[in-house]
Amino acid sequence: MSEVAAQHDLEALYLIRDRESGLEAAVAVHDTTLGPPRGGTRRRAYPSLADAARDAARLARTMTWKFAVHGLPFGGAKAVIVADPEADRDPARRERQLLAYGAAIERLGGWFGTGPDLGIGAAEVATIQRACSCAVGHRSHDIASRATAAGVRVAIAFGLAALDGRVEAAPLEGKRVAIQGVGAVGGALARDLAGHGARLVVADTDAGRAERIAAEVGADVVAPERITQVAVDAFAPCAAGGVLDLATIEGLRCRVVAGGANDVLVPPEPAAAAALAARGVLYVPDFVANGGAAVALTGCGEEGRPEDVERAAERIARTVAAVTSRALAGAEPRAAALDLAAAALRRERCPDRSRSLGSEGSA
Ligand code: PHE
Repeated sequence: MSEVAAQHDLEALYLIRDRESGLEAAVAVHDTTLGPPRGGTRRRAYPSLADAARDAARLARTMTWKFAVHGLPFGGAKAVIVADPEADRDPARRERQLLAYGAAIERLGGWFGTGPDLGIGAAEVATIQRACSCAVGHRSHDIASRATAAGVRVAIAFGLAALDGRVEAAPLEGKRVAIQGVGAVGGALARDLAGHGARLVVADTDAGRAERIAAEVGADVVAPERITQVAVDAFAPCAAGGVLDLATIEGLRCRVVAGGANDVLVPPEPAAAAALAARGVLYVPDFVANGGAAVALTGCGEEGRPEDVERAAERIARTVAAVTSRALAGAEPRAAALDLAAAALRRERCPDRSRSLGSEGSA
């Protein structure tokens, strides 16, 4: 497991096993230059704890970029709980595992703070909170999902305007958007976009969930394997990551990609980003578009307020504008966003140097 930590350049990798409940989990801390580590906890099936650790490590790196690019004083981390089929069948066992997980991260002394992610919703956060004081997102879960959705909507609006050469938010009235996955974030995005007059196509591996959201917002439903190929203005991946490899990118029929999912591009990511650019698709990097919950949860903690949604959307808009203006000047957007994140980390590491560089720039 030490090679996972080295390969992903982690500051820390904690492996958690609880004999009694059968819990297996990994907490990856990537980079705490900007502040204490924060990142959601995800629960998913993995072949092994090592695979879970690898996923946590990749996602933690993405969180470092997310906090850095949006100017938030936190470090990148992520936790992953290995979903075991026995616990899926037995709610009492699942609860014991979540409590054991909460107790284990509590022993980190509050340094690592966490919240919801794929497979960990408001109810699961509430259980984890019974064993620790370092999780948020039970009462604020809805606000966090809506904040992510609002940020993605802003990213789509700026992305579409950028294709017409402008740094602003294009009106979404009548625009067609395909949403992959309508869980907490994808569902909130469907409602948000419908409220802004967009026309929607949705897909979910849970067919009933897709039908319910579609009926609510007046969307079309397509099979999950078709959602990347529908002709739309924007494609919003809001399920698991790893959806855009070179073959899938070839089949895209959208102008903008911006969504709520993390780690959307299949590695090597620069090749995927280049393929998107070559096809004329504007890719708003996942860690730029989906930062709404990171802004909301680290700002409001458990006391989510409706105004936190707009506050998060405004913060995302500033970052997206910085990225699309660089894209308009010819940069590939993911590279531009990584540059912005790296600059924020550099400023924190050597403030004097960046100040002198800054004065050079303005002289
Ligand atoms: N898991 C979400 C994300 O990756 C929300 C979250 C952000 C949760 C920060 C905890 C801390 O952005």
